[in-house]
Amino acid sequence: MSQLFSPLTIRGMTLKNRIVMSPMCMYSCSRKDGIAMDWHRIHYASRAAGQTALIMLEATAVTPEGRISDQDLGIWSDEHVPHLQELTKAIHEQGSHAAIQLAHAGRKMGVDGPMWAPSAIAYNENMKVPQEMSIEQIQQTVKAFTDGARRAIAAGFDCLEIHAAHGYLINEFLSPLSNLRQDEYGGGRDRRYRFLQEIIEGIRTIWSGPLFVRISASDYHPEGNTIEDYVYYAKMMKQDGIDLIDCSSGAVVPAAITPYPGYQVPFADTIRRESEIATGAVGLITSGVQAEEIISNGRADLVFIGRALLRDPYWARTAATDLKAPLQPPKAYERGWT
Ligand SMILES: Cc1cc2nc3c(=O)[nH]c(=O)nc-3n(C[C@H](O)[C@H](O)[C@H](O)COP(=O)(O)O)c2cc1C
Repeated sequence: MSQLFSPLTIRGMTLKNRIVMSPMCMYSCSRKDGIAMDWHRIHYASRAAGQTALIMLEATAVTPEGRISDQDLGIWSDEHVPHLQELTKAIHEQGSHAAIQLAHAGRKMGVDGPMWAPSAIAYNENMKVPQEMSIEQIQQTVKAFTDGARRAIAAGFDCLEIHAAHGYLINEFLSPLSNLRQDEYGGGRDRRYRFLQEIIEGIRTIWSGPLFVRISASDYHPEGNTIEDYVYYAKMMKQDGIDLIDCSSGAVVPAAITPYPGYQVPFADTIRRESEIATGAVGLITSGVQAEEIISNGRADLVFIGRALLRDPYWARTAATDLKAPLQPPKAYERGWT
């Protein structure tokens, strides 16, 4: 019996299978105000019709200056809520659950205006040098994440994910390569974790449902964070109320990596075993057989599918066909599903 198509309950949310749509920026808010457009409604609802159990919205900015581009989705204002609510409604109507990735780009922001980061170090020579955040700005940003979470709850999301990966703001605090602060937000691991901890604590004051964190489990740099550091951080996140660690890697500093099928799965596997917390595996997982191996061998609890779901909104059906696993179609598609 397929484990990929078995249900999983996380803090009261029962997913019908283990397939998650990985968060992927669409850069499609053409009015540049962070408001979801027709594109988002079609894009996310199609993957839900394709029987993906959990639809994770792209990195959604908790402040306007926290955007990667001016066409990112936003959640910094109450005006965003009704438009996001249309997305959750469309996803729910197809029998899937809806999640949103709450994000701040930090020193990778791509909009006009000042750029903020834990320390005044540019990502590379082509990028602007950010300004070091004051304690007050740190506190305001923690609050922006909580406010974003409050709006996400109002919009009907079943699950929230904090984006702490890929060299964006939270990752910049976690990494010793981008955080050279001398105050309580920099120094050893515990102090570099403090910013994320305060964000988790803030969200946990208003949200008792499923809460995930996406991490970059390796900086791919001799002086950077390694999987051992993230086993440690994952234990802290578990204590602080995180339900699942979504294990990506890299991008806090430029580094040459050669991805291969399933190359990040060992991170999910190690954290799951050593930190005793549920994990998501992501990265070049493209076939049902590959995903089934990951879930049935207990290497992760969920698989996050990115580009393969851009190519094939019915990826779950394709995987089920490969695995000869039964998969309920949307009622309207019954005559064309098998
Ligand atoms: C177009 C595109 C946009 C992405 N945007 C995000 C994002 O918003 N947040 C995030 O954490 N990762 C983002 N990613 C990374 C994906 O979520 C995923 O981790 C990566 O593509 C590897 O998985 P895959 O091989 O299944 O595509 C993006 C990837 C792509 C291709």
